[in-house]
Amino acid sequence: MATFSTSSGQPNAFSFVLIGGTGDLAMRKILPALYAAHRDGTLGEGGRIVPVAQTELAQDGYLQWINEHVKPLVATDGVDEDSWVSFLERITYVVLDASRADAFSVLRDVPGMLRSQRIFYLATGPSLFVSICAGLAAAGLTEGARVVLEKPLGHDLASSQAINDAVGAIFTEDQIYRIDHYLGKEAVQNMFALRFGNVLFEPLWRREWVESIQITVAEELGVERRGDFYDKTGALCDMVQNHLLQLLSIVAMEPPHSMDADAVRDEKLRVLRALKPLREEDIRQNVVRGQYRAGVSGGAPVPGYVEEPGVSRDSATETFVALKAEIENWRWSGVPFFLRTGKRLAGRVAEIVVNFRPVPHSALGAMPLRAGSNRLTIRLQPNESVRLNVLGKVPGIGMNLRGVYLDLAFDRFFQRNRMEAYQRLLLDVIAGRLALFVRRDEQEAAWKWVAPILEDWDRSLTAPKPYSAGSWGPAAASALLAREGTCWVEEES
Ligand code: BG6
Repeated sequence: MATFSTSSGQPNAFSFVLIGGTGDLAMRKILPALYAAHRDGTLGEGGRIVPVAQTELAQDGYLQWINEHVKPLVATDGVDEDSWVSFLERITYVVLDASRADAFSVLRDVPGMLRSQRIFYLATGPSLFVSICAGLAAAGLTEGARVVLEKPLGHDLASSQAINDAVGAIFTEDQIYRIDHYLGKEAVQNMFALRFGNVLFEPLWRREWVESIQITVAEELGVERRGDFYDKTGALCDMVQNHLLQLLSIVAMEPPHSMDADAVRDEKLRVLRALKPLREEDIRQNVVRGQYRAGVSGGAPVPGYVEEPGVSRDSATETFVALKAEIENWRWSGVPFFLRTGKRLAGRVAEIVVNFRPVPHSALGAMPLRAGSNRLTIRLQPNESVRLNVLGKVPGIGMNLRGVYLDLAFDRFFQRNRMEAYQRLLLDVIAGRLALFVRRDEQEAAWKWVAPILEDWDRSLTAPKPYSAGSWGPAAASALLAREGTCWVEEES
């Protein structure tokens, strides 16, 4: 069987410096992902993990913190005790106040730091990025190093440019890994295989045959313990500017000439730059902004957004966005891309739906043309699958037609445990593979496109439309598609 790999080498001895080493992200995502890679034997020999935080803990105290807080969160395949012990042996905790640019020289004394491939993972708020990079440079640690930046990188185009300028004054673009964990998801990767490894889809992947495309990332959870952060961010900047526009760029890109990082990113960038700019009337008509009210989720009553801890009681922050985007190029001109994301929706699902046009003429009669249209659904989560809806004949006398589907459920073919997104991306950083990280120009093109929406919302001071927790969002989101003669596809897995 053919295998596909973007691999350009095995991880070397590295020092993985995790700045924000006692934070939520380190606890929930990064340390569990590093452990899973260690357990699976993919982390490479000799690499050290150096969590850095202000919390005054001795090495033993930090290891105890990991045991209590991180171990229970290791999801995929769980913890194996021997490998957990050897994972802890890789860790050296360093107390350091990351807000002080002169504090970083202590890292030079960490065994192996100066000789190894240094990786600095900035798992802190973006307000610290600039001073951390300056501190690392002042300590003489940046040459040949890699820096990983977490989203959100700024809160608009200007602030993201300011961060990129300041970080770019210290690190070159190929030292910078801007992480978008959606790019590490297996099904997103699989889209490359599906589109560019098969002849079947590519000829149809264009305006002549595609009527519309939907991208949904729906969450059942509310804002959890992140009310304070979320209230300043909102769904547009938290999800659309990054994850959804990245998915859109992969669905719509031209075939790259290779899987080389810049070949892929150049094509994604072309799509982002071809997004039709939104004018005020487009925003009023084609962008829906919602906020959840109290409702029922997972069978239990849940509070409304403004009642969540950390959220301002009169908040106008959106927890839901649905919009229509268009791409102005030969392949996609006139094809609407409907994007939708929200918290406290009726289910957790992330999927891309490609709606094909109806047949031009049906010799078979009976069935309304559109009802039988083909549809390709690429599901990212909760269960990865690719489903192709086609029209079939009901057995028996007469030509009775019914929609049926071809289903590709990945579990059937691939027994091997698949990696969590963070695990894959961290291994890519360690191995120096940039293809699944967002380049500065891509990121700024995405900010540029969402900017008029942010400005319009600021100017107009209109309140988001309410929706009940546990529903599929405000009625206006359905009306948006109804106006275009279609509806959101919400089907069972
Ligand atoms: C993060 C957002 O980037 O993605 C969160 O900040 C969101 O608000 C999360 O919940 C969704 O990721 P996933 O992988 O659970 O779909």
